[in-house]
Amino acid sequence: MTNKSGPILDVRNLGKAYGGVRAVNNISFQVNKGEIVGIIGPNGAGKTTTFNIIAGAERPSAGEVFLEGVNVTGRSTEQLYQLGLARTFQLSHEYPKMTTLENLMVASKSQYGENIFMNWLYPKLVHEREAEVVQKAGETLEFLGLEHVAHQLAGNLSGGQKKLLELGRTMMADAQLILLDEPGAGVNPTLMQKIGDMITDLNENCGFTFCLIEHDMELIERLCHRIIVLAEGQILLEGSMKDVRNDPHVVDAYFGSSGE
Ligand SMILES: Nc1ncnc2c1ncn2[C@@H]1O[C@H](COP(=O)(O)OP(=O)(O)O)[C@@H](O)[C@H]1O
Ligand SMILES: [Mg+2]
Repeated sequence: MTNKSGPILDVRNLGKAYGGVRAVNNISFQVNKGEIVGIIGPNGAGKTTTFNIIAGAERPSAGEVFLEGVNVTGRSTEQLYQLGLARTFQLSHEYPKMTTLENLMVASKSQYGENIFMNWLYPKLVHEREAEVVQKAGETLEFLGLEHVAHQLAGNLSGGQKKLLELGRTMMADAQLILLDEPGAGVNPTLMQKIGDMITDLNENCGFTFCLIEHDMELIERLCHRIIVLAEGQILLEGSMKDVRNDPHVVDAYFGSSGE
């Protein structure tokens, strides 16, 4: 049963162990519609593993994930994508042998043209849908400022352009919730600014909800309504940037408590 008024994402008592390592240890949090929630924490804190479980790339050892009130624990990435959950990766995941435009087009949900029977039974419908996808991909390219590389192979794009393409692919998905893993990693300050502006724009004007992992504290402070700090697989703190700054445990988590 769907619950539209509840949180869009509800993570309950999530756990993941790799052998003896407890990468994620009893994590619970929620993300509400329209929010931008930041996830921060030192390397190895369990941030990416948490995203992997939510996005269906890995199964949890314990706990459950609810998307708009539906228990989606253990569903595949593809099934979750169809339900409106999109994610980007710490390292870009483009199709290098396809053009930028094609990369956007294949990210669109429910491509009827891929279904041979749909093509045979309803060629007009398939054709109309394809035209819509082309138009949307064009608009997305314009939004990203990547029109000039529309027909270049994505493998030949710069690191920054690949980051933009990752964001564009989530836009094509009509996603309800977008998980961004370090959108600022390896990106120059100008592009960082631009990516931040785009996320704000998509949030404020298109109603996209975001949950993002990021090391750049300026970007986190600028974008996020709420911040969750992870350390050693657990939630250390949940609150505003001010709460984060004023918490001595956070400083310990980042710099160690050895007093060096
Ligand atoms: N596939 C894996 N196999 C074994 N250990 C893993 C695997 N993925 C992550 N880990 C371990 O789990 C912990 C959390 O990793 P990760 O979620 O990538 O942290 P973060 O993204 O916060 O840097 C680390 O100790 C890491 O070495
Ligand atoms: Mg990570």
